[in-house]
Amino acid sequence: MDLAELNKVAMAMTTPGKGILAADESSGTIKKRFDAIGVESTEENRRDYREFLFRTAKAMHDRISGVILFDETIRQKAANGTPLVKLIEEAGSIPGIKVDKGAKPLAFAPGETVTEGLDGLRDRLIEYRGLGAKFCKWRAVIHIGPGIPSYDCINSNAQALARYAALCQEQDLVPIVEPEVLMDGDHPITRCEEVTEFVLKMVFQELYYARVKLEGMVLKPNMIVPGMDCATQASDHEIAEKTIRVLKECVPSAVPGIAFLSGGQSDVEATARLDAMHRVGGFPWHLTFSYGRALQHAPQVAWSGKPENVPAAQAAFAHRAEMNGLATLGKWTPEIEKQAA
Ligand code: 13P
Repeated sequence: MDLAELNKVAMAMTTPGKGILAADESSGTIKKRFDAIGVESTEENRRDYREFLFRTAKAMHDRISGVILFDETIRQKAANGTPLVKLIEEAGSIPGIKVDKGAKPLAFAPGETVTEGLDGLRDRLIEYRGLGAKFCKWRAVIHIGPGIPSYDCINSNAQALARYAALCQEQDLVPIVEPEVLMDGDHPITRCEEVTEFVLKMVFQELYYARVKLEGMVLKPNMIVPGMDCATQASDHEIAEKTIRVLKECVPSAVPGIAFLSGGQSDVEATARLDAMHRVGGFPWHLTFSYGRALQHAPQVAWSGKPENVPAAQAAFAHRAEMNGLATLGKWTPEIEKQAA
């Protein structure tokens, strides 16, 4: 393991002013997104869509530090034959790859899942490195509900994350460690706070047992938010303060960077809350975004599968990338959001 190199990549992935584009939707998830805009999910349409995102040159260069790809995409070529990985590199961004095989029902734990994909992972990592990946992602999913999450669920997912992260570092790939506490449900913000704190404590304990070097990883957590159906919603400032408090409680300062998932927040909410955290300040890590939906919803709607809409869709993507880039510097405002749109 070359820890200096891993640290360099982790720092670059979370460099202030930039963040990560999560474009690693599995075949099932991208179909759902395409269904919503009336586009058939063919291999060509998926390629065309991702190709125009990666060709949004200025936004990619200025605001996107890295791109998380799905297995299909890391092997795909642009319409002119250039590998998509090459397009990302030429834009000055770093290619990465989702390596988990999805969240599957956990035995004897109704309503809970454990993320699979450890068997054969070392060999897959070696192949992905050969295809140009410099970092990986593994997402664990924790549901909040009556009587859940269980200890078994948190423990199983934390162990899997740690085994994955150790394998990545062994192969000189930076692991993005993503334990996502979902915002589905009507629980108050305090429940998300206590569950996330417990989950992060367990994850960092397992990372230590697995001998993962914190200097060579990136954490991808949820923000501390109320359940989507909770009657009492929270201000951006409260979310920022609670999120920073929990992270300070759980994440050692040896971790170079933290990149949030958007997890079902609206585009502008995800931006405003990241910005609010930087206005609160006083934390030791780079704090940025690794958004899927919050970066892609607007360009998907603008595109709607029509080639003539590509420039408008690229503009929509560039706008979200710019707004989130400003948020990583605490320089986003609702006024800038409106002016630039
Ligand atoms: P969202 O930002 O849409 O939550 O996706 C990020 C991600 O990579 C989830 O694994």
